[in-house]
Amino acid sequence: MTKKLLVIANWKMNPDSPGRAVRLAKEVEKGLRGVKNVSVVIAPPYPFLESAGRALKRAKLGAQDLFWQNVGPYTGEVSWRQLKHLKVKYVILGHSERRIHLGETDQVINKKIKAAIKAGFIPVLAVGEQKRMSNKKMHRALLRQLSGDLAGVSARAFRKGVIAYEPVWAIGTGLSATPRHAKKALGMIKEILAGLWKTKKVSTPVLYGGSVKAGNAAAFVSTKGGAMQGMLVGGASLKPKEFIGIVRNSSSINVK
Ligand code: 13P
Repeated sequence: MTKKLLVIANWKMNPDSPGRAVRLAKEVEKGLRGVKNVSVVIAPPYPFLESAGRALKRAKLGAQDLFWQNVGPYTGEVSWRQLKHLKVKYVILGHSERRIHLGETDQVINKKIKAAIKAGFIPVLAVGEQKRMSNKKMHRALLRQLSGDLAGVSARAFRKGVIAYEPVWAIGTGLSATPRHAKKALGMIKEILAGLWKTKKVSTPVLYGGSVKAGNAAAFVSTKGGAMQGMLVGGASLKPKEFIGIVRNSSSINVK
C-alpha cells in the first residue's frame, strides 16, 4: 500500500451535549497516538464543530454538509464561507440520510460539491444503492448518482475528492456488506468515473461505509479483501474504543 488509508467518523446528530462531544473528541485523539498509516477525520454536528475541533490535533475536522451560497437569506443553512472560519478540511456530501430524510437530489448535491471544491474543502461524496439488487441495477443506481452529483466536475477539479460507497441497506443495521461486495462496488465506481472523466486511470480514493466495526474493518481495506482505501464510520465512531480499534486494525494491515 502506498497511499495512507482514510478513516472518517461521521457522528451524525450525536452526541446530545457539547460536553460529551468534547470528551469524545479528546478520547479519540488520545487513542490516535502512534498511529501511522491512517489519516483520521472527525465530522461532528455543526454546533460542536468549533469545540470538538479544538480538541483535535492528529485528526482533521470534517463537516457533515454545507450550503453553496456564501451569505444571505437561507434560513437554517450553513454556508461554505462560514465553515471556512473553522478548521474544517473535509465535507461529507450526498449522505443517504440527507437524500432520504431531506429530499436532497443529485442536482442539489452537485451544487454543494462544486461549492466545496471552490472553497478548498475536500469533498467526500457518499453514494450507494438503496436495497440489495442485481449487479446491473446496482451499476445503474451508482451511475445515476455519480453522473448527477459530479455533472460538470472534472477529474482535475475532483483530484482531492473522495467517494464513500455506502449501501443504504448496510447503514446502521449491524449487517455490513461483505468485503467482496464492497470490492465489486469499488470496481463499478472506478469504471463509472473513468467513463465520466474519459480517462483510464482513476486515482480517487473509495471508502466503504455501513456497519463498520473494529472486528470487520481490516477486511475492507486489505488487498485480499475489499481493497478499499478507508472507511466512513457512523455508529461505531461514537464509541472511542471501537473507533480506535477500527483505525488500529486497519493500520496494522497496511504496515509494510
Ligand atoms: P453506520 O456505521 O452506523 O452503519 O453508519 C454508516 C454511515 O452512514 C456513515 O456515514
